[in-house]
Amino acid sequence: MELSIELAGLKLKNPTLLAAGVFGVTGASLKRVAQAGAGAVITKSISLKPNPGCPNPTIVEVLGGFLNAMGLPNPGCYEFSQEIKVAKEGKVPVIANIYGSTPDEFAQVGEVMEGAGADGLELNVSCPHSGGLIEIGQNPELTAEVVRTVKKKVRIPVMVKLSSNVSNIIEIAKSAERAGADIISAINSLGPGMVIDIETASPILANKVGGFSGPCIKPVALRCIYEISKNVKIPVVGVGGITSGNDAIEFFMAGAKAIQIGTGIYYHKIEIFKKITDEISDFMDKKGYKSLNEIIGLVH
Ligand SMILES: Cc1cc2nc3c(=O)[nH]c(=O)nc-3n(C[C@H](O)[C@H](O)[C@H](O)COP(=O)(O)O)c2cc1C
Repeated sequence: MELSIELAGLKLKNPTLLAAGVFGVTGASLKRVAQAGAGAVITKSISLKPNPGCPNPTIVEVLGGFLNAMGLPNPGCYEFSQEIKVAKEGKVPVIANIYGSTPDEFAQVGEVMEGAGADGLELNVSCPHSGGLIEIGQNPELTAEVVRTVKKKVRIPVMVKLSSNVSNIIEIAKSAERAGADIISAINSLGPGMVIDIETASPILANKVGGFSGPCIKPVALRCIYEISKNVKIPVVGVGGITSGNDAIEFFMAGAKAIQIGTGIYYHKIEIFKKITDEISDFMDKKGYKSLNEIIGLVH
């Protein structure tokens, strides 16, 4: 059974990636996820300067998923460079998820991460509750400008992470591709949404609103992957609500070349990477598929 894939030159032993922000807070946790069977790992979103993030509570469970407003906390790219080095001991590609307040700041963080040894970048232009990022990801020109500026400064592959909170995701994806993006990932958490504690008559999250993730967003993510992969030539990576091999197969059939797992870790711990890889393999065996390429985009 052939489960290895190549993503814009990155070689992955299987198509499961750790999604940004869920377990990739330190080099040690990224290494643990790699050793637990992930094909590649993505860091928490990293910025130029340290960001303390939002006060607690930052996450609350809802039916079918979670609502979070972490506020993109991180120690800043210079300090985080050491974590990249530790993460690389996991022996799988390490992708740094980055953000900035201007295209130049994105590029500066990207250069620092490349210098620290990151194998690829993921540009967060889609966080629904922090840093004005969604405003970039909702605008095809701004998205393209960020991609172009980063691409001028780094040699490693650049993945752009899109939001479903846009009127036309195809337009944004094509714009990112034209600007030189190597890979597109979708989707970031949906929303923002709100949960209210009726005893205290106040929102549960300190930030009041947060991004929605988990199985409840999977149909939206699948639709986005279907639309994007139909309209761009670069590889597309699916993320949103994946907790099983069957979920992953749906994403491949919709056109994804690989998938990311975030909230699924809350339900199945980091063993989820091996679980999903085994389940993909079992499905392919049962159906007589020999390689992932036979499944990718089947729905088209
Ligand atoms: C607690 C939490 C923190 C997250 N932090 C980030 C982040 O720092 N950067 C980012 O691009 N996405 C972040 N995300 C979004 C996820 O990477 C993913 O796109 C989204 O949760 C949908 O996938 P899932 O349903 O598998 O979690 C975060 C999600 C959660 C639940």
